[in-house]
Amino acid sequence: MAKLDIERIRLKVYRFDPETDREARIDTHDVPYVDGMTVLDALFHVLEKIDGSLAFRFSCREGICGACAMFINGSYRLACETQVARVLREGHRELHVMPLPHLPVIKDLVVDMTRFWQNYEAIAPWIVTRTADPEKERLQSPAQRKLIDEYVGCILCGSCFSSCPSVWTGREYLGPNAMMKTYRWVVDSRDDAAVERLGRAGNEKGAWRCHTIFNCTEACPKKINQTSAIQGLKRRTVAAMLRGAR
Ligand code: SF4
Ligand code: FES
Repeated sequence: MAKLDIERIRLKVYRFDPETDREARIDTHDVPYVDGMTVLDALFHVLEKIDGSLAFRFSCREGICGACAMFINGSYRLACETQVARVLREGHRELHVMPLPHLPVIKDLVVDMTRFWQNYEAIAPWIVTRTADPEKERLQSPAQRKLIDEYVGCILCGSCFSSCPSVWTGREYLGPNAMMKTYRWVVDSRDDAAVERLGRAGNEKGAWRCHTIFNCTEACPKKINQTSAIQGLKRRTVAAMLRGAR
């Protein structure tokens, strides 16, 4: 990426501590710009040089753990892999960093993901087998593996969950991530629990709550098409019902 001819970048960052603040505020900082710096680097500058009380999540710093998902200049992004230069080249003159919308704020950029994790756990995101364990691993053909390729790339960042209007308005909805992950196991050739999985997902708290708005697909930093997976779940649920399997 070509170099930017700037010395500093203006960073506006959301601040709120529910334990002490009556309302949220936006802090503004001028941060020295370094070629290749990411939004996470800019937040670290604030934390280490300006205000040690700024709270944000991170871990891997390379787009794998999903901890640093934030709402940056109006888009869902991973702070660790979003270069400041890229945001500015989109036409923005400053960085705006907000927590994931529609989730309770614990502090500043850290949101409460409890509901997201509970929903994920509720769909039993592990392999269920009913046959004797093989001597070595359970094999898959390349074609079988291809069916789940896209979905295993999910890093559980929560962006899709945060972006979904059906999640905002339906406390019971399991959400796009849990639905996509259900589909991922239903089509996994090694898993034997498709009937139970379709039973859990094929109702008004599951796949039928998705109104194909596509926010989740647009929000995903890993470009996973959850909406398509949920549509697949709907098709398989109907097919199972017609077969009398559920
Ligand atoms: S599907 Fe995409 S947006 Fe949703 S949790 Fe996984 S990586 Fe994040
Ligand atoms: S710190 Fe792990 S994805 Fe950003």
